Amino acid sequence: MANVQQVANYKLGKLIIEGKTKQVYGIPAEPDNVLLLSKDRITAGDGVKAHDLKGKSVISNKTTSKVFEILNSVGVPTSFVKIASDSSFISKKCEMIPIEWVTRRLATGSFLKRHPGVKEGYRFAPIKHETFFKDDANHDPQWSEEQIISAGFNFNGITIGEKEVDYMIKTSILVFEILEKIWQTRNCALIDMKIEYGVDRNGNILVADVIDSDSWRLWPSGDKRLMVDKQVYRNLTNVTETDLDTVKRNFEWVADQLDHLLPPSDHLVVIVMGSPSDKEHCNKIKHHCENLGLNVDIRVSSAHKTTESTLKLISHFESLNIKIVFIAVAGRSNGLGPVISGNTDFPVINCPPCTKEDVDKDIWSSLNVPSGLGCTTVAYPETAALAAAQAVALSNYIVWSRLRVKRLLNYKSLQKADDETRLT
Ligand SMILES: Nc1ncnc2c1ncn2[C@@H]1O[C@H](COP(=O)(O)OP(=O)(O)OP(=O)(O)O)[C@@H](O)[C@H]1O
Ligand SMILES: [Mg+2]
Repeated sequence: MANVQQVANYKLGKLIIEGKTKQVYGIPAEPDNVLLLSKDRITAGDGVKAHDLKGKSVISNKTTSKVFEILNSVGVPTSFVKIASDSSFISKKCEMIPIEWVTRRLATGSFLKRHPGVKEGYRFAPIKHETFFKDDANHDPQWSEEQIISAGFNFNGITIGEKEVDYMIKTSILVFEILEKIWQTRNCALIDMKIEYGVDRNGNILVADVIDSDSWRLWPSGDKRLMVDKQVYRNLTNVTETDLDTVKRNFEWVADQLDHLLPPSDHLVVIVMGSPSDKEHCNKIKHHCENLGLNVDIRVSSAHKTTESTLKLISHFESLNIKIVFIAVAGRSNGLGPVISGNTDFPVINCPPCTKEDVDKDIWSSLNVPSGLGCTTVAYPETAALAAAQAVALSNYIVWSRLRVKRLLNYKSLQKADDETRLT
């Protein structure tokens, strides 16, 4: 593949590195970024088996870009910036950590060889993770966490120690779980996958490189015989043109599936306040909801004083035919939440704006509800938003993914706080 000068609107700098499946170019106008140009080349067995496959670059680029766009949209820190052309994308310029981070839901392939006695299809819960040192000449040997830490890698000023390895393992599992959820919506089982990390020029550890049909095993309907990933190519002994065409059509099918992902089910979180004086409290709930990617509406309705309008409001939202979660905000005696709960089957979360002085008295009107009502009660705006998000996430893979990422980032920020606080 010749050196390229320009791709789409990007004037390219020097070819930084060329691997088996792509070229990496500098972009003089954007020193923090690179352009990754995909090749029409398929390889397996550390490059021992390799074929030209016309059209593969476009399919791989489409798959990788779609996967990274999803990961970025739910808050996973990745190197992907944006698609640049049919066969290239822009990525943050990274120093790459030479480890393959493998995650598995079902045992198959090399795992079975390394663990004799384990039957194919053994289901890992939690997800199994493994790490391999990227070293084609030695067939990518498996490395333990201790080996990675002991290697003393330092990239863009970041030493890869215990916490960094822990973060990458947790992120790999998270990426697997998110993509597993997404593939479930297309009735495909994600069996295992590998990802790589890089450190950008600001010292951030990012999911990098590519994630495409080379990266995972994917079994439509959970049936191994229907596999549509690179394993089909790996399994070939004599590679004919017809075989290559089948591999390409599989990859194309995968890219198309991602293109036709159904939007997650529509939803609305309706925050109802009994009095406009509760507005500030409601805005806090709204803010937390929006951070989790929830659609929000805020209304004023008093179950005590405008009972008819409260009932009409419920009927209105029920008629929308989407998934609704009500959050009831009423101080003093909370009639609102229980009244909504008694007149709808959607979840109702009470989040009364109690002050420290009156919490003991007021909270009981939310908790001590008549029999037959299933509304729940929380004390803080963030808790209300999280509880609503959990209800929505049951049928919405994007909100589910955002919650999953939030859990990881909470973990990471507490680890960082510990680092900054400890004296020894
Ligand atoms: N964002 C990035 N910034 C800098 N380099 C990158 C980035 N993403 C990927 N690379 C590097 O681009 C190179 C070319 O990729 P390719 O996948 O073709 O290599 P390869 O032959 O498979 O070798 P490897 O076994 O290292 O992946 C790899 O060394 C990869 O680590
Ligand atoms: Mg590679």
